[in-house]
Amino acid sequence: MIRFDILTLFPDMIKGLLSDSIIKRAINNKQIEVNLIDFREFSTNKHKTVDDYAYSGGAGMLISVEPIHLAMKTIPNLNNAKKLLMSPGGKTLTQEKVKELATFEHIVIVCGHYEGIDARILNYVDEEVSIGDYVLMGGEVPAMVIIEAVSRLVPGVISSDSPIDESFSSDLLEYPQYTHPYEYDGFKVPDILLSGHHANIEKWKRYQSLKKTYLVRPDLIKKAHLTLKDYQMLWEIKNENK
Ligand SMILES: C[S@@+](CC[C@H](N)C(=O)[O-])C[C@H]1O[C@@H](n2cnc3c(N)ncnc32)[C@H](O)[C@@H]1O
Repeated sequence: MIRFDILTLFPDMIKGLLSDSIIKRAINNKQIEVNLIDFREFSTNKHKTVDDYAYSGGAGMLISVEPIHLAMKTIPNLNNAKKLLMSPGGKTLTQEKVKELATFEHIVIVCGHYEGIDARILNYVDEEVSIGDYVLMGGEVPAMVIIEAVSRLVPGVISSDSPIDESFSSDLLEYPQYTHPYEYDGFKVPDILLSGHHANIEKWKRYQSLKKTYLVRPDLIKKAHLTLKDYQMLWEIKNENK
């Protein structure tokens, strides 16, 4: 069981994720727990505002550190939790990082909004995490990305085979997959997949994985653990694409 505590000004944005599909089932099965904490409730001023102008000037409003810190202090066993700040200035989330996060029993996620948060928030979190090199309006979607990605690694949340083959788990992108009908709008399922020849099908899958990764994410090929057979296939793929 992993417990997530999400500190946000917009809890309703995240409620949709929790009320449907696999995440809903995981919550009902007590495989994960997600608590949404609206840190506006911890504002100490009478208008319940949480943002203010930046000392450095510039457009936009910054969220003050106090309401977030006060909200965090109400979370039980906070010292043992992994505390993350969603930030475009953080290290980019990878499947490797997701695997590491899935080893924690408790993850606290702070979502910024507007121009971001007073930098002193960094004294209360372990690290900043970005979900990619682009800027979103708030940390709620990134927090949902983390809940989704980490939860599917919690044993029993999805079928146990799924994380083995899929993209990034084996350094490569996943091979293409097909379901019924056999032919749609003139496009057929590759015949090899109907051959019943297990070894050839496995070889085809590896070839397709290598090909997709080579064409779409050549950077991953450089880091992948490849066998001699893989290098032979890569040579074929390169020649095929000349
Ligand atoms: C508009 S952004 C603030 C951007 C900030 N002024 C900057 O330039 O880095 C508001 C909030 O959205 C969240 N956010 C935006 N893009 C993100 C990303 N790529 N990854 C994670 N969080 C992001 C963060 O919580 C951030 O505090």
